[in-house]
Amino acid sequence: MSKQFDVIVIGGGPGGYIAAIRAAQLGFNVACIDEWKNSKGGPALGGTCTNVGCIPSKALLQSSEHFDHANHHFAEHGISASNVSMDVGKMLARKDMVVKQNNDGIQYLFKKNKITFFHGRGAFVSAGADGYVINVAGATEESLLGKHIIVATGSNARALPGAHFDEERILSNDGALRVGAVPKKLGLIGSGVIGLEMGSVWRRLGSDVTILEGLPTFLGAVDEQVAKEAFKAFTKQGLKIELGVKVGEITSNKKGLSIAYTNAKGEAQTLDVDKLIVSIGRVPNTIGLGAEAVGMKLDERGAIVVDDDCKTSLPNVWAIGDVVRGPMLAHKAEEEGVAVAERIAGQHGHVNFNTVPWVIYTSPEIAWVGQTEQQLKASGRAYKAGSFPFLANGRARALGDTTGFVKFLADATTDEILGVHIVGPQASELISEAVVAMEFKASAEDIARICHAHPSLSEATKEAALAVDKRTLNF
Ligand code: FAD
Ligand code: NAI
Repeated sequence: MSKQFDVIVIGGGPGGYIAAIRAAQLGFNVACIDEWKNSKGGPALGGTCTNVGCIPSKALLQSSEHFDHANHHFAEHGISASNVSMDVGKMLARKDMVVKQNNDGIQYLFKKNKITFFHGRGAFVSAGADGYVINVAGATEESLLGKHIIVATGSNARALPGAHFDEERILSNDGALRVGAVPKKLGLIGSGVIGLEMGSVWRRLGSDVTILEGLPTFLGAVDEQVAKEAFKAFTKQGLKIELGVKVGEITSNKKGLSIAYTNAKGEAQTLDVDKLIVSIGRVPNTIGLGAEAVGMKLDERGAIVVDDDCKTSLPNVWAIGDVVRGPMLAHKAEEEGVAVAERIAGQHGHVNFNTVPWVIYTSPEIAWVGQTEQQLKASGRAYKAGSFPFLANGRARALGDTTGFVKFLADATTDEILGVHIVGPQASELISEAVVAMEFKASAEDIARICHAHPSLSEATKEAALAVDKRTLNF
């Protein structure tokens, strides 16, 4: 006899666990199945984001930034620190502790919301009049019956053909977050989000870092002006970024790895490294889900086909997060989870894909929401642009971090904000104001007329909004 639930969520990452909590808040009897194991074989709720993604990468970015500051920036403040050293083991242990706090926090939230948790792999078995039978294969086997199923099984790192992840020398995001000693020479393939964040961590700790990028443009999805400023800052810090390369054979030898590639000029090159991180995107994860048992449609990339409301090809089966179309971001997965739970309850859950912010947690940070200048040009929309440099912001000067700027793009006629792009200190926090403004369809003038605390980095946001009307006050 199967255990019965109103809602069964498969996957306990940010999409799945948030969907489970929202469904429980709405009065449903909810189960969540997740197979992630911690080092002791126990459950580790939170998915990619908590275990090998957002959270551990930010922990390492923080530790490595402290190290960088102690080595290169304390002196400006009159602080002398000699023989600064990094205990990589301790840094990793701290990161693991931060991860565990998040794992435990989600287990607590499940108890608080009376969500039944099953540790194991969930798979569709059959569909019937009462709902879907889901098998859970863990330490024991369980059979569950659910009226509504939410699939939130996430994604896995894409491997380079012919170079599987051994997590010793050729690393995915998982191995990249567990490197036990600073590699002398580190290679990365792909100068996307992971390439830049993980490249920054190990560069700050002393690795000689080279990133090989296939495309001829750097951060093609980012506003060109921002990408240019970021490229300048990263290369000045010592990150070597080669664009327009074609990666060939990767061979292992006694010392490490040798990567054959042709550069943008078509010349044959080799890069010798101790370790290689491959960060060339991620693939939706439907392995072992039993999609075929119930006839759930997947697209050519293996992603579950959904409509704008996250409905799959099957009645009462929903899919959210990295396993469906759209940006692979934790907050996008969460928003979809909340919206789906509300739709199951007959409410009108909504996700505004136009106002999903992006952040790259490098130094300087990069954050944006809405359209880029190149997208507006391509669409032929008439717009006005205004930007303000952190160099002219008092708080940024006091912080000693004046790289970058805030840039506003607004409709030429209505002044509605169409995009905001930030490269600079605390861009991850500053972008929220722009998201709120765009959600409320604010104009650039609305931001320009709001009182911002002084001295604060957010004054650069106000000034960039003023710049749209060519009336900055401090520049
Ligand atoms: P996931 O988090 O992948 O969770 C899916 C869960 O389902 C996993 O626990 C998996 O084990 C489980 N599962 C899969 N199949 C089954 C099954 N059949 N049965 C049971 N369980 C199953 N995004 C951001 O927004 N900000 C960041 O700073 C950020 N940093 C990142 C850094 C790195 C290095 C990486 C790799 C990603 C980062 N991301 C970041 C992306 C973010 O991690 C993902 O977008 C997010 O985790 C997707 O959430 P999800 O719930 O869809 O899937
Ligand atoms: P990505 O899509 O950000 O970047 C991949 C890069 O690899 C691209 O620039 C692409 O042109 C390049 N590439 C692809 N194939 C290549 C090849 N064969 N040779 C050389 N270059 C090649 O993917 P990434 O960095 O792996 O991250 C995956 C996803 O995880 C991101 O898209 C993002 O959704 C999420 N993420 C989000 C973070 C954040 O929000 N701060 C941090 C890290 C990851």
